[in-house]
Amino acid sequence: MTTTISFIDTKGGTGKTTATMYFAAVLHNRGFTCTVVDADPQGSATYWRDRADDNGNSLPFEVRSANIRDLQRGDWPTDYVLIDTPPGHGDILNAARDASDLVVVPTTPAELDVERTWATLDVMGSAPVVVLLGNVDRRSTLYRDAVEAFTDTESADDVVLLSEHIPYRTAIKRGPGTLPISFFGYDKAVDEVLGLIAALTQEEA
Ligand SMILES: Nc1ncnc2c1ncn2[C@@H]1O[C@H](COP(=O)(O)OP(=O)(O)OP(=O)(O)O)[C@@H](O)[C@H]1O
Ligand SMILES: [Mg+2]
Repeated sequence: MTTTISFIDTKGGTGKTTATMYFAAVLHNRGFTCTVVDADPQGSATYWRDRADDNGNSLPFEVRSANIRDLQRGDWPTDYVLIDTPPGHGDILNAARDASDLVVVPTTPAELDVERTWATLDVMGSAPVVVLLGNVDRRSTLYRDAVEAFTDTESADDVVLLSEHIPYRTAIKRGPGTLPISFFGYDKAVDEVLGLIAALTQEEA
């Protein structure tokens, strides 16, 4: 059985591609087969793969481009499918959401990113969604404000914020072209996401 996870945010630069590649790296590290589906016309995940090929360190999982029809068909027979999406392109985001067992919305504590997270959650409707906070500096008030916004406000009532927050790291910024081997908390985020998917599957059964 294939489990599909999409990484979606209507705003650019919030960490979608990074989270997609780290999730794939974590799952590969645990012995699972993975496909990264690059549904972003910018092709950032594909660029990551090509850089790895050029460096002579090809990624140990496939990265494949996909259009809306490919997403609807969803024919990637690996244990996990991780879908990277563009910022905007509502039709692609909807197709990715509909193809997924769970949607991860990567965001950062930056005010504009938090602002757009709410809009993204609206677009996701009743699909199972979690927010992944990344690029964080735990000492900053911006970070504390973001956590509060997603946990302690009225708007946060229906929001699931993963308890693992990914720190800002230069090593993460240098990621494209490499297979991540240090996970900076993405491994714990994967645990949380898989736990939620398992709980959803049990509810359905
Ligand atoms: N935890 C982190 N620490 C440092 N840099 C990070 C971190 N997470 C992401 N970045 C950097 O932030 C930038 C944006 O990340 P990324 O490309 O993953 O976002 P995106 O949402 O996929 O962007 P786009 O909407 O353009 O596709 C990249 O330069 C990436 O390396
Ligand atoms: Mg991207």
